[in-house]
Amino acid sequence: CGIVGYIGPKQATPFLIEGLKRLEYRGYDSAGIAVFDGESIETRRAAGKIAKLEGTLTADPVTGKVGIAHTRWATHGPPTERNAHPHLSTDNTVAVVHNGIIENANVLRKQLTELGHTFRSDTDTETIAHLVQELWEGSLEEAVIGALRKVEGTFGIAVVSSKDPSKIVAARKGSPLLIGVGDGEYFLASDASAILAHTRQVVYLNDGDLAVLTPDGYKVMDINAVPIRRSVERIEWDLAAIERGGYDHFMLKEIFEQPTTVENTMRGRLILEDGTSKLGGLNMSHEQLMAIDNIVITACGTSWHSALIGEMMIEDLCRIPVEVEYASEFRYRNPIVTPTTLCIVISQSGETADTLAAMREAKRRGAHTLGLVNVVGSTIAREDDGGVYLHAGPEIGVASTKAFTSQVVALALFALKLARKRTLSVIRGREIAQAMHDLPAQIQKILDRAAEIEKIAEEYKDAHNFLYLGRGFNFPAALEGALKLKEISYIHAEGYPAAEMKHGPIALIDEKMPVVFIAPHDGVFDKIVSNIQEVKARGGKTIIITSRDEPALEGLVDHEFRIPETVDMLTPVLASVPLQLLAYYIAVKRGANVDQPRNLAKSVTVE
Ligand code: G6P
Repeated sequence: CGIVGYIGPKQATPFLIEGLKRLEYRGYDSAGIAVFDGESIETRRAAGKIAKLEGTLTADPVTGKVGIAHTRWATHGPPTERNAHPHLSTDNTVAVVHNGIIENANVLRKQLTELGHTFRSDTDTETIAHLVQELWEGSLEEAVIGALRKVEGTFGIAVVSSKDPSKIVAARKGSPLLIGVGDGEYFLASDASAILAHTRQVVYLNDGDLAVLTPDGYKVMDINAVPIRRSVERIEWDLAAIERGGYDHFMLKEIFEQPTTVENTMRGRLILEDGTSKLGGLNMSHEQLMAIDNIVITACGTSWHSALIGEMMIEDLCRIPVEVEYASEFRYRNPIVTPTTLCIVISQSGETADTLAAMREAKRRGAHTLGLVNVVGSTIAREDDGGVYLHAGPEIGVASTKAFTSQVVALALFALKLARKRTLSVIRGREIAQAMHDLPAQIQKILDRAAEIEKIAEEYKDAHNFLYLGRGFNFPAALEGALKLKEISYIHAEGYPAAEMKHGPIALIDEKMPVVFIAPHDGVFDKIVSNIQEVKARGGKTIIITSRDEPALEGLVDHEFRIPETVDMLTPVLASVPLQLLAYYIAVKRGANVDQPRNLAKSVTVE
């Protein structure tokens, strides 16, 4: 979901709509705004994309210089106009937008109904509006503080009221919010991209912070109204980074940016002559690094796939046992964490609720936490003990692409550093470092041949199922390839370790089933050839990502795409690029909305 707010000398609505559009990638099933028009709070809401809301506003405009807005990714209640934010109090004096989940909403709803409040939506959010009305004693911030004392759960909220109209009150607990400091005007947003066109000066709120914005300034305080100082930070990237720049979709732009983004992840960090890396943000002494005797990596979605590759790299190079855990599972297990556990947390957004909670749990149990995060200033990046920023730039396409390759590269940098401190020889270290250094140019070579993938996409765009198979380092690449296709084309796809196929998925294979093999010439190439034969023998269609002219593949290939050769552990970086393109072209050819696939959200800040 996304939140924006404006207070200043200008009309709020144009900014609110523009901000919502910039945040649309975070949730797009319904949207709405609330503006104080000089007398009362006016709301406009619509189910569907922001464009629908714009239509509503053209037919029925609102004016005013204070406003809040929201684009939604439904949790409680279906994505209808009725459930779209902002939500109003019974007397229509208070409007609220909210990201997160109020866990005791049902109890509060019952109590508030008994007190005479009328609920007009199925959302948990609405309880906040009624509570603020109920607890009103004269100022908006006091009433919001009162309301927040009663709610349990997670939130990023913005509230306005016609009874205290020159104010926006915002608060966060578990869901990001920042203030944009403009020239005589102030902005509120859940994500910096919403306000970047207006200011680069931002104040990131921390969990537990409450902020009051007025036309003259802003104040940050805690839940007891005790003032807190928060510094103003500068956003370093520019608007071009969040615009499509001539590409049809953000996803395509981000796929094509990978030579640069992978380069940026390594910039200043790779030391070729010593075959190692320098990671300034690690925040661990040599002794601490040497003392690590087990590693847990936790993440969700695509980031979890990069974690699986990281596990293999670290175990192979550093000889330290690594466990990869879905963040949502880790946090509710009784995980084994000791003072010598390193917990690596991987997240593009740095805001995924499960991942954040898993990190906090690992910390609580005494692990040292290391965040591999893309979004600078995000919650995970601020709460981890040490970090490696990906520097891939803003990722807007909901299906993660460039963040994934940067995550794998960041994991390789880390593995290399740790391994060279331990047992890895300088010769082998140099070989890996050189291979990393060569990746950007190799990715470019793949992208130059995108048209070959587009042809394959044309042939298989109507398939109902896909199987992705790989072994070793490329088993996670198979999972990620399948996930990309599922997410944006809605074709069912499964990733599997190639040899496991015969224990189940083989039953699915017939002449209609495309099977993508990720089979570069690596240490397990010979093994995967027999799996390809098994598919061919049952009439399946084979699409093979490989790296050499292989006589062993003769007669087994329906389609082939060549990737450059690299060391085994980096093959998934190269193999993933054609898989991203395959998913992209298939989705486009099916007419799907690539950048905003149905039901998904870019960053999931609820459990
Ligand atoms: C969502 C996104 C995925 C992403 C996952 C984890 O489900 O749609 O693309 O991989 O969250 O996000 P994170 O920001 O923590 O990497």
